[in-house]
Amino acid sequence: MAELQTLMPLGDAMAEASQAVGEVLDTLLPRAEGPEARLFEAMRYAALASGKRLRPFLVLAGARICGAPEPSALRVGAAIEMVHAYSLIHDDLPAMDDDDMRRGQPSCHVKFGEATAILAGDALQALAFEVLAVPATHPDATLRAELVRRLAVAAGGRGMVGGQMIDLESEHNEVDMATVTRMQRLKTGALIGFSCEAGAVLGGASPAALHALQHYAHDLGLAFQIVDDLLDARGSAEMMGKATGKDAAAGKATFVSLMGLEEADQHAGMLADQAVAHLEIFGERAAHLRELAQFVLERRT
Ligand code: IPE
Ligand code: IPE
Ligand code: MG
Ligand code: MG
Ligand code: MG
Repeated sequence: MAELQTLMPLGDAMAEASQAVGEVLDTLLPRAEGPEARLFEAMRYAALASGKRLRPFLVLAGARICGAPEPSALRVGAAIEMVHAYSLIHDDLPAMDDDDMRRGQPSCHVKFGEATAILAGDALQALAFEVLAVPATHPDATLRAELVRRLAVAAGGRGMVGGQMIDLESEHNEVDMATVTRMQRLKTGALIGFSCEAGAVLGGASPAALHALQHYAHDLGLAFQIVDDLLDARGSAEMMGKATGKDAAAGKATFVSLMGLEEADQHAGMLADQAVAHLEIFGERAAHLRELAQFVLERRT
């Protein structure tokens, strides 16, 4: 890949990263052959669909800042995208958000049936950990174990899955701002947090650099989910590649439901500014991450 952090406009850098991670995903995901072909087809369908691949981009950008090897970062980026794709497959199931469209195509369970979709999500998650655990990702076994541990925490009950639980419960219970903040930080922030930390772990960065990236992720992740909620309220399905207007219909608690559109907008803007402020120690090396905060606010998909 050409220079990721400097010179290249952010949009080009994101497109290039997306292409590179897509190629790695394509080689890591099993071919749709043999008796399990249907499972592998469903995994490929969900994970190779046209998402923004924001999380792998964060891994690559963090790795570049911290001097980590790019082949390692690409594999870690593919692993986090697998966990993200699994989270979306399960999020769309009838028992959860019951969404028929994802990334501009029928949701995995609509295309393959619920049972296959559940299994495809399960297998994507397991494959992500396998990818992190093998020497091809990094020669240092202790470092690999650290990545495994961090992703396990981010994906599990004290991370993404815990946030999804609070999200579902918010459909039936009154929840306050503190609970919504916790929910968003877990369901979306945790995987974004892992994505930002991973480059620092791979690069053996200083504690100060690791903390700066963690703080950036903390604010960026929350801004990202607030914008997702804003787009659900005012975007179109055509633009987003997924149904909109679903949160209010399901009675979900979000920043938009608690604050209203305008205040939620302002809050996301404040968080994006705050995210950028954490990058000061990196100077120009963090130019793309700075721009990304603005991208998160302005995105329409
Ligand atoms: C959607 O994530 C789910 C949330 C956590 C809000 P993205 O908006 O990153 O989805 P893709 O990967 O681009 O499809
Ligand atoms: C999903 O949040 C977060 C996940 C962990 C998948 P949403 O339910 O708001 O995501 P979308 O709007 O369906 O993409
Ligand atoms: Mg959901
Ligand atoms: Mg959803
Ligand atoms: Mg949403």
